Amino acid sequence: MDTRIDKYLNSNIKDLINEFDGIQQALDKFEIGCAPCSLGTCKLKDVVGIHNLNAENEKELISQIFKIIYPNESFEIPRIAQEKKNTNNAMSPPLRMLVNEHILIKRVLALAPKVEEKLDLSIAEHKQLIKDIADFIRNYADKYHHSKEEDILFKYFDSSLDIIKVMISDHVQSRTYVAKMLNAVETGNTLIAKNNLINYCNLLTEHIHKEDTILYPWMDNNLDTKQVGKMYAEFLNINNSKPELQGKYDALINSLETAF
Ligand SMILES: [Fe+2]
Ligand SMILES: [Fe+2]
Repeated sequence: MDTRIDKYLNSNIKDLINEFDGIQQALDKFEIGCAPCSLGTCKLKDVVGIHNLNAENEKELISQIFKIIYPNESFEIPRIAQEKKNTNNAMSPPLRMLVNEHILIKRVLALAPKVEEKLDLSIAEHKQLIKDIADFIRNYADKYHHSKEEDILFKYFDSSLDIIKVMISDHVQSRTYVAKMLNAVETGNTLIAKNNLINYCNLLTEHIHKEDTILYPWMDNNLDTKQVGKMYAEFLNINNSKPELQGKYDALINSLETAF
């Protein structure tokens, strides 16, 4: 590989965006949002690789970036992303398990605006409603689902990758919203409870979308069969240690959906 290509592929994307006009726009065309990322320590090659562009789009993006950096030269463009091992787009069982857990969480996210509209913490049932939602978030979305991500899945990858840091900081932020929501129940402050419920809902909606469409497919493509098997066994261990959890929260969400 040309050493100039190698140098810039290994450069920090934020530095490149700051140094060369047009790189952000080139990324935007392929719906790769680097500017909104608060951390911004990814290398260009990681940014390209993680988004799983097809070979044609990847070549086009890198060509456009190198035309901006070296306007008067042409280069042989290398392939960055690993070719998809999985050609039928089916996820492996452990990653599919996480996507399925998102479905229950998304049902609560869909209810949140309706709850927010009607919420009045002077009513005892409404206090209980927020406690029930917080209980689901803490014990299912967080302790059951996020911990599979943080304690198992993410450990198979480089923890310095921006996308992993961003996912973990979303989890941390979501805990803050839930704590504030529960505190509002104690003080009877309906407005604070509403605001934190909606903040949680907005954060998790975006977070799950990133995981389902970018992070999980990329991770799945970079795990070998042995790792997938080991991870699946670890996930099943967690499920088997809490056999009642899925049924309990399915029933809770069903009753909330009927009530709203
Ligand atoms: Fe997550
Ligand atoms: Fe998740």
